[in-house]
Amino acid sequence: MPLQIDILTLFPRMLDGFLTESILGKGLEHGLLGVKVHDLRSWTTDKHRTADDRPFGGGAGMVLKPEPVFAAIEQLQTPGCRRIYLTPDGVPLSPALALELSQQQHLVLLSGHYEGIDQRIRDGVIDQEISIGDYVLTNGTLAAAVLIDALSRFIPGVLGEEKSLTHESFTSKLLDFPQYTRPAEFRGMSVPEILLSGNHAEIEKWRQARQREKTRQVRPDLLK
Ligand code: ADE
Repeated sequence: MPLQIDILTLFPRMLDGFLTESILGKGLEHGLLGVKVHDLRSWTTDKHRTADDRPFGGGAGMVLKPEPVFAAIEQLQTPGCRRIYLTPDGVPLSPALALELSQQQHLVLLSGHYEGIDQRIRDGVIDQEISIGDYVLTNGTLAAAVLIDALSRFIPGVLGEEKSLTHESFTSKLLDFPQYTRPAEFRGMSVPEILLSGNHAEIEKWRQARQREKTRQVRPDLLK
């Protein structure tokens, strides 16, 4: 069975383009994975469809209420599924984590509210908290999209060529080498001679040297 993902969000339409376009859209079309988007407000019970409320103890902003989230997750979860909350105070997303998640059968992703969610949600119906980076988004919906995009690359068949996966940044712990395509000369800028030489061993050496150089300049931490 292909990986099934349920996304719970207050902003379901933020994902419209993401799910229909590009490589991921093709993966969904071909059934290599399944993604369903759910509006958290469908699980509210009052006529104003209230999903958040003021924080106990005071302070600015609103907090996501437990009732609709518990009801939603309890309805969507399956035995053995992983229930994930996207939040800037979660564990950082890494290629290893993306790979691990791509091998699960069912993920339920909860996209948070920018100001926070009731702690009882985290304690009661969340298995793992994941951050996509040290910056704060207005809500977790784009973070859920980033997570799905990152893990979809590890699902066989989603990327056209298997090769593009193994060659790419971070699987080798080095940043990528520069790529060129036709024309060989464009506005006075020419493609490095070596790439036109047909000498594959020399090209490989050149690419590795560029990877080390770029990594040293931009991400020296990866070389440690
Ligand atoms: N929600 C808001 N900011 C986020 C982040 N950096 N990662 C995951 N979820 C978030």
